[in-house]
Amino acid sequence: MTSEVHPTTHDPFALKRSSDTWWDDAVIYQVYPRSFQDSDGDGVGDLAGIESRLDHLVYLGVDALWLSPIYPSPLADMGYDVADHCEVAPELGDLDGFDRLVASAHERGLRLMLDLVPSHTSIEHRWFREHPEYYVWADEPPNNWVAAFGGPAWTCDERTGRFYLHSFYPEQPDLDWRVPEVRHAMGDVIRFWVERGVDGFRVDAVQQLMKDSDLRDDPLATTPFVLPLGDEYGRLDHVHSEAGPEIHIALEAMREAAGDALLVGEVYRPTRDLGSYLEHLDLAFAFELLHAPFEPERLAEVIREGAAMPGVAWALSNHDFPRLATRFGPDRASLAATLLLTLPGPVFLYQGDEIGMVDGPGAEPAFDRAGRDPHRHPMQWESEALGGFTTGKPWLNLTDPERTSVASQRGNGGSLLELHRRLIARRRELSGPLEAEADGDTLLLRRGSHTVSLDLSGTDAPTS
Ligand code: NOJ
Repeated sequence: MTSEVHPTTHDPFALKRSSDTWWDDAVIYQVYPRSFQDSDGDGVGDLAGIESRLDHLVYLGVDALWLSPIYPSPLADMGYDVADHCEVAPELGDLDGFDRLVASAHERGLRLMLDLVPSHTSIEHRWFREHPEYYVWADEPPNNWVAAFGGPAWTCDERTGRFYLHSFYPEQPDLDWRVPEVRHAMGDVIRFWVERGVDGFRVDAVQQLMKDSDLRDDPLATTPFVLPLGDEYGRLDHVHSEAGPEIHIALEAMREAAGDALLVGEVYRPTRDLGSYLEHLDLAFAFELLHAPFEPERLAEVIREGAAMPGVAWALSNHDFPRLATRFGPDRASLAATLLLTLPGPVFLYQGDEIGMVDGPGAEPAFDRAGRDPHRHPMQWESEALGGFTTGKPWLNLTDPERTSVASQRGNGGSLLELHRRLIARRRELSGPLEAEADGDTLLLRRGSHTVSLDLSGTDAPTS
């Protein structure tokens, strides 16, 4: 006798789930909330706006969405300076709206991930005043450490006259993960959101969670780091200010709180170093692919290295770096999409890349002191001047909706949007290990009986 299993209750994920780890081969769409869709005309994207656009993600066929930070923030680092981890920024909505968004996503079979920012808080977080012991302090700057965006990593707190450590902007004091109360407090944050139905977290700046316990100087760099760094930051070899060997203390605490929820690490380190992080995280980004030049040899090399490391997640762009269509040229966006969406393992797609949005002019004065506004312009839904993004004055102007929009590409078989749809649908047919090799100007990706051949010499459409 054979038995068949039928779902007994309505489970929108039942058809898609192939194993317990829903993220295997998943396509996860990165939403930059302030720039996705405004619902109330204040010019800033919000949660209700995201909810109203979920059908775009269903149309694309992605499995999940990841929201860049949605928390209250003074916006020194556009939300990566969190002032309250268990609230929603008022301009984005509220917790009820968040619950509605989760429910709407789940009804559509979409999983929802948040950005967890555990390595630092905003200087305006109440912990900085009420629990100074959560942070790293010294009477004088004890070493030569530099902040990622430049300048010393130690700033004097005017109230106490003591110096606190910050790996990023001075408005982002670093938490000390050796302090048990920090681990408990951040565990509570994780549980708070998991209980609200969140399916996972992209974990920010994991390499900064644990530093040298003796706060020793970083030596001068003798060779360039594998990944691009700010000029000043790149002058040092960050053997002590990053990636401390006790990282497991922090990651174990997060894993315990997260349970089965997905943890994807933003670990800005070479792919070969990711192993110790992946003992506790489910996934970590292979940043060498994101930064690889569009050349067959180098691409094949980084893809082979990443594919050999179980737990690698792929992305070709995000809110921190020039947009894909700007880096490679708009004519190569379809090649890049084909490359990304045929890789084994989970891939992340940054909002707007599916229509080939390019970098915009940014703002004057800039919102981001590190110059990343150009990669964060609002999503272009319609071809009219405000792009269907808002009815008010957009916080950051639209770039070129008359040239590039969802509306103009939807249903047009030759468009980049429709190519993304086809690739995402056909991705489900791909299985088996990957072989990547360069053959002259061509990058060959083989999986099972499928070969993807990408001619990177010119601007021709990809073949598969
Ligand atoms: C990585 C985030 O992606 C970036 O936007 C932010 O500035 C830093 N981490 C600091 O949180």
